[in-house]
Amino acid sequence: EKIIFNGELVERTGINIDIEDRGYQFGDGIYEVIRVYNGKLFTKEEHIKRLYESAEKISMELPYDRNSLEEQLENLVKENQLKTGIIYLQFTRGVAMRAHGFPGDDVVPVFIAYTREVERPESSMKNGVKGILVDDIRWLRCDIKSLNLLGNILAKQEAANHGCFEAIQHRSNIVTEGSSSNAFVIKNGELWTHPATNLILNGITRRVILDICKEQGIQVIEKPFTVDELLDADEIFISSTTSEIMPIVQLAKNTKSDILLNEKTIGDGKPGQLTRKLQELFEKEIE
Ligand code: PDD
Repeated sequence: EKIIFNGELVERTGINIDIEDRGYQFGDGIYEVIRVYNGKLFTKEEHIKRLYESAEKISMELPYDRNSLEEQLENLVKENQLKTGIIYLQFTRGVAMRAHGFPGDDVVPVFIAYTREVERPESSMKNGVKGILVDDIRWLRCDIKSLNLLGNILAKQEAANHGCFEAIQHRSNIVTEGSSSNAFVIKNGELWTHPATNLILNGITRRVILDICKEQGIQVIEKPFTVDELLDADEIFISSTTSEIMPIVQLAKNTKSDILLNEKTIGDGKPGQLTRKLQELFEKEIE
């Protein structure tokens, strides 16, 4: 298995990450996770575009143009003969003596990418999973796919501590998104999700779902909705590159949250009808 290190296909054991890499010291960098189905990069252009947008938002200039980067990622997948899995890629702002401000122009971003086999989570998608509500304690630029993930990590761990698959975050009672996914509710045949503002990452899977809805005439409202509206939903699901469309069939009690919530079953405790329909339509997109 090869990885990419600064534009070269190399063995994972053959590289050195400097102790003063700004990604390592500050989380100063950006990343993407791209799905590979049948050896092909799914929604490749959208991921690459978002990567360059994230770079621009943190005033970081990537050392490759888009075509060159795409080619490198394609080569990696081919080299590793990956069929079903993911590519992880990240750029840090580079190596420089530790100081908060940006280093000089001579410092170039450090790029790594690797592949991993990841099966589609078929049984969870079929049966649904448990979620937990947690406070969204993150910063105000969640639109950037930044390496700084402490808020997300603490949320996901809270979920794991309660035997849950995902933490659904809310900021003063408005549901924002999952710790590593976007959140959707279905109410009376309408799909609601938080608008793509600075408070969420505009997921690529989210965009695919919204496009499907447009095509199929399923009504979507991108609007902030409350925790009470989440609890009152007919169906709930989350979406991400790795989880695709994942039904939430139960919400756990969160002892830490200021919101007093008893364990709550969503719908009849099984993935709802519209969620299953969207899963089927999504499946057609990836074939
Ligand atoms: N997470 N919101 C957050 C905070 C995320 O980290 C992710 C993705 C998403 C969904 O985005 P997309 O549909 O483009 O994967 C939403 C990736 C998979 C991760 O960090 O592993």
